[in-house]
Amino acid sequence: MAAIEVTLRCCMAWPWLALACFITTLCAPPAALAETAPYIVHMDKSAMPRAFSTHQRWYESTLSAAAPGADMYYVYDHAMHGFAARLRTDELEALRRSRGFVSCYRDDAKAVRRDTTHTPEFLGVSGAGGLWEAAGYGGDVIVGVVDTGVWPESASFRDDGLGPVPARWKGVCESGTAFDGSKACNRKLIGARKFNKGLVANENVTIAVNSPRDTEGHGTHTSSTAAGSPVPGASFFGYAPGTARGMAPRARVAMYKALWDEGEYPSDILAAMDQAIADGVDVISLSLGLDGVPLYQDPIAIGAFAAMQRGVFVSTSAGNEGPDLGFLHNGTPWTLTVASGTVDRGFSGVVTLGDGTTVIGESLYPGSPVALAATALVFLDACDNSTLVSKNRDKVILCDATASLGDAVSALQSAQVRAGLFLSNDSIGVLYEEFSFPGVILSPQDAPLLLQYIRGSRAPKAAIKFEVTILGTKPAPMVAAYSSRGPSGSCPTVLKPDVMAPGSLILASWAENISVATVGSRQLYSRFNIISGTSMACPHASGVAALLKAVHPEWSPAMVRSAMMTTASALDNTGASIKDLGKRNHPASPLAMGSGHIDPSRVVDPGLVYDAAPEDYVRLMCAMNYTAAQIRTVAAQSSSYAVDCAGASLDLNYPSFIAFFSPNGGAGERTFTRTVTNVGDGAASYSAKITGLSGLTVAVTPGRLVFGGKNEKQKYTLVIRGQMNSKTGDVLQGSLTWVDDAGKYTVRSPIVATTASSDQF
Ligand SMILES: *[C@@H]1O[C@H](CO)[C@@H](O)[C@H](O)[C@H]1NC(C)=O
Ligand SMILES: *[C@@H]1O[C@H](CO)[C@@H](O)[C@H](O)[C@H]1NC(C)=O
Ligand SMILES: *[C@@H]1O[C@H](CO)[C@@H](O)[C@H](O)[C@H]1NC(C)=O
Ligand SMILES: *[C@@H]1O[C@H](CO)[C@@H](O)[C@H](O)[C@H]1NC(C)=O
Repeated sequence: MAAIEVTLRCCMAWPWLALACFITTLCAPPAALAETAPYIVHMDKSAMPRAFSTHQRWYESTLSAAAPGADMYYVYDHAMHGFAARLRTDELEALRRSRGFVSCYRDDAKAVRRDTTHTPEFLGVSGAGGLWEAAGYGGDVIVGVVDTGVWPESASFRDDGLGPVPARWKGVCESGTAFDGSKACNRKLIGARKFNKGLVANENVTIAVNSPRDTEGHGTHTSSTAAGSPVPGASFFGYAPGTARGMAPRARVAMYKALWDEGEYPSDILAAMDQAIADGVDVISLSLGLDGVPLYQDPIAIGAFAAMQRGVFVSTSAGNEGPDLGFLHNGTPWTLTVASGTVDRGFSGVVTLGDGTTVIGESLYPGSPVALAATALVFLDACDNSTLVSKNRDKVILCDATASLGDAVSALQSAQVRAGLFLSNDSIGVLYEEFSFPGVILSPQDAPLLLQYIRGSRAPKAAIKFEVTILGTKPAPMVAAYSSRGPSGSCPTVLKPDVMAPGSLILASWAENISVATVGSRQLYSRFNIISGTSMACPHASGVAALLKAVHPEWSPAMVRSAMMTTASALDNTGASIKDLGKRNHPASPLAMGSGHIDPSRVVDPGLVYDAAPEDYVRLMCAMNYTAAQIRTVAAQSSSYAVDCAGASLDLNYPSFIAFFSPNGGAGERTFTRTVTNVGDGAASYSAKITGLSGLTVAVTPGRLVFGGKNEKQKYTLVIRGQMNSKTGDVLQGSLTWVDDAGKYTVRSPIVATTASSDQF
């Protein structure tokens, strides 16, 4: 039975979610009876009468009996069982009474959120060293990306040196024809499909493709003080295409275009996941999510459950709604949830004052002039007086932007000033958009120097040099302020996010006919763009998962995730705890970064893993008090085994811990039971090491685990006792690390104890 006494539930203790629960009235009737609305309908395929030859026939017959003439615009068979259709209220009621009906919810485009600022992402960065060789550069692993599209002509998809497409691939080529091994099918970009049936009349859209597909060779590009201004076809910031590589450079990419400017529909995302599973992908990467929905109404959670059952790893983005706690999406226990961090690269602007003093700040201004010659400099406090700003628009304006960087930037932008200097502790990663005018963010620590110069000079001047790239910046990584924080609204008892990956200012390959920036009224074009968001972080993790699957094809998705989590680093490149840009650079909590920054060099050989099977997730949903229909909505494919709630437990075998304590100080005790599997070679012994959680008692029993051989399992219990006298929303953090006697492995799990509750949000 349930080992922990956590009583948080979506609609009870999380009012911000409760609100969402109430407004997302399931299958709510449209205003007028005669109006139709789009629905996703789950069916119990095992209830299909023998008379039907296919499930599609059965669904059609069921639908036409309940709703004659209704338009069924999708049929699903892999990500879920059922269909999508436009229905009137009375038709929906008739459908509910039909044999095999399980559940339904609105196909609501407003619920879907892209986790990017402009346009998404793709398989990112990072030199993985030894792992690349061990994993054959991810060769033959197929990553399905559900997103906005792809630029097939990009150098990122050149298939030089790749072998034939894996025989298990069942999908199509980018041309849309069935894959026949011909060279018409790019071996790197092996599939591309579009989904937008029914809802919007847009059949003329080609798979082409108005979004960036990155592959960055973080570490392979050269530092640059780019000369010349970016023009169509030229490189951005001086990076030459080809130097940029993806995380798993030999993995095959199958692109499923499910997001459209006309609307982002859950039904399209489900169709993409349905097809990806059928096509035979190994990893699905989703840089998008639905806010404020329970697991049984979340098409990503539903599709991911089916994928997980077939051994397909699903990687998702946490969202860009930070830094306040609790706005994370994709907090689904059977997916990987990825937070976003900075990388050790700065895009700088160098300011030279009239007296020769140089001050270096951050800038992403991409246009010409690359350098601004010495120009009159003026300080206008917070730059909140628009009259004053306009009056000085031909000067370089220095703003005290410590209160709000965004306000100061937009004030100067709308006044079309010559250039702006912004004193702010915020990094440029906080801004979603790059500057469309010459601007530099400077540290408040430089303020005395700048002000002294301006006040002491008759005609203060500043010159600025843009497009200066600095590598090896410290500290890095840091959690990006925008990265969404846990706890997960849809399942608070599983600590989310899981890991952090590079997501801020990522070099991404870009469609050459889509501008990367607007400078004044001029559009700039490039083969690369620089983008921030958890949408960029997620594909990095997908790439690492692809490498891991190449090395350990037999591992379950939970084992792959466990290896990524327990080897992640909680330290930055100065050896200190990773800091949080959204918390005034204080140490980041696991609710911001999960277990830490993914470490591709350690992930292949984690020593121990925490595994979980589909039945374990079903037992978790039982303990969340889901109804049988809700459980079957998520776990449709599990009809092969009966949904058994006898072993209901909120205590999932997960490589992290979150304990909820009452904010009013009552003493409590939270118990977690875990089973670890030895995936190292041969016998091994491990000892438990606990850090943090000061004020609470943490006990691990037994404190030593002895394994006789590979694949052996051992169980342990972790008990947290004590009281948190603090206010609501307090977060204590710590960790449990299993250290092996030989000193080869450290298997680390973050622990959070929190009084987060109703009053917090
Ligand atoms: C960009 O180019 C692609 C492929 O040539 C084309 O299909 C698409 O319509 C173009 N987009 C724009 C905005 O010009
Ligand atoms: C803004 O600056 C102008 C010009 O110096 C001044 O007359 C005006 O009072 C200022 N407005 C505010 C709100 O301070
Ligand atoms: C900015 O950061 C510095 C150093 O991290 C700190 O001392 C200072 O108080 C911060 N200032 C503001 C306004 O946040
Ligand atoms: C489920 O319901 C039981 C019985 O009402 C209750 O004790 C328990 O706290 C509930 N669990 C959750 C996670 O809400």
